[in-house]
Amino acid sequence: MDIKKEINEWNDQLESATAEEIILFFTSKFKDKIALSTSLGLEDQALTEIVCKINKDTEIFTLDTGRLFPETYDLIDLTSKKYKKEIKVFFPDSEEIEEMVATKGINLFYDSIESRKLCCGLRKIKPLKRALKGLDAWITGLRREQSVTRTDLNIVEWDEANEMIKVNPLINWTETDVWNYISKHNIPFNTLHKKGFASIGCQPCTRAITEGEDVRAGRWWWENPETKECGLHIK
Ligand code: ADX
Ligand code: SF4
Repeated sequence: MDIKKEINEWNDQLESATAEEIILFFTSKFKDKIALSTSLGLEDQALTEIVCKINKDTEIFTLDTGRLFPETYDLIDLTSKKYKKEIKVFFPDSEEIEEMVATKGINLFYDSIESRKLCCGLRKIKPLKRALKGLDAWITGLRREQSVTRTDLNIVEWDEANEMIKVNPLINWTETDVWNYISKHNIPFNTLHKKGFASIGCQPCTRAITEGEDVRAGRWWWENPETKECGLHIK
């Protein structure tokens, strides 16, 4: 069957399924050809709990850009120990980073959107390509509510850029749903969340938000909402 038609059917079939049911469905279908991509964010911590409960063999990976918060590294360690599960870490190519820093500077991302995208490209997108190599599908913690760039996403998407299936089991969850799940299951989370950080990425490109601000207002805070995607989730 045509893959896009199949994706539409899965979306209809799973419309009212729980995140657990969605993960069970796809990990059974794709076996060792599906992986969870975690940034150690709240959503991904909930997904890690579910994946470890449902299929402990499913690969979990993270992209270490080299510019993460110390708190995020602590959480990688803590989570891996709690679930007795490797979180596979992918790094950028050191020569490419050296070249970029030599020509554009260590904090090039503040100079222009172009430079910011170059940095995200080398530190995130390229390692993501390596992480996804050989897979048929990946699982992410995207939610519609997160951003104007994400409002039309579905549970299952055809990821054009990576030519594979993308599964977003929490797509309909609200921020409150995520927090409730985290509390109910006593899931470890980034201590920065209690210091005003809502969505957490690289340290120089993330700030805390104030009451009433959008959850992603602290990501690349100097840019417009419409440009705030690093390229991991461009259709
Ligand atoms: S981003 O594109 O703006 O950085 P966001 O932080 O909202 O993305 O995360 C959305 C989803 O992308 C996460 O739930 C996770 O699946 C994936 N993701 C983001 N950053 C990383 C990372 N560093 N390593 C692995 N997966 C990531
Ligand atoms: Fe570079 Fe910032 Fe993108 Fe991280 S979020 S890869 S530091 S531009």
